Amino acid sequence: MVKARRLDAGRGRKVTFSFDGRSIDSYEGETLATALLAAGVAAFSVTRAGQPRLPFCNMGTCFDCAVRVDGQDLVRACLTDVRDGMQVERQEGK
Ligand code: FES
Repeated sequence: MVKARRLDAGRGRKVTFSFDGRSIDSYEGETLATALLAAGVAAFSVTRAGQPRLPFCNMGTCFDCAVRVDGQDLVRACLTDVRDGMQVERQEGK
């Protein structure tokens, strides 16, 4: 008889970062995209036409999750782990 096993669902250490000046709590091991979506962020970036953008592929291909991290433009939130103290800003017009 096969016995069912459960994966460890424990969370990492709590970390705090900012998004456009708003303080957001998250956990080590989560991606920035996960943390921003969980915090209810409605737009990661804004197109030149003013349209909001959110993650689409969640695997690093589309750049719809692009944000500015610590002054670096076009960082893909779906591929970036959260770090304590990181400064994240909405990416506009790129
Ligand atoms: S959601 Fe497509 S690159 Fe991040």
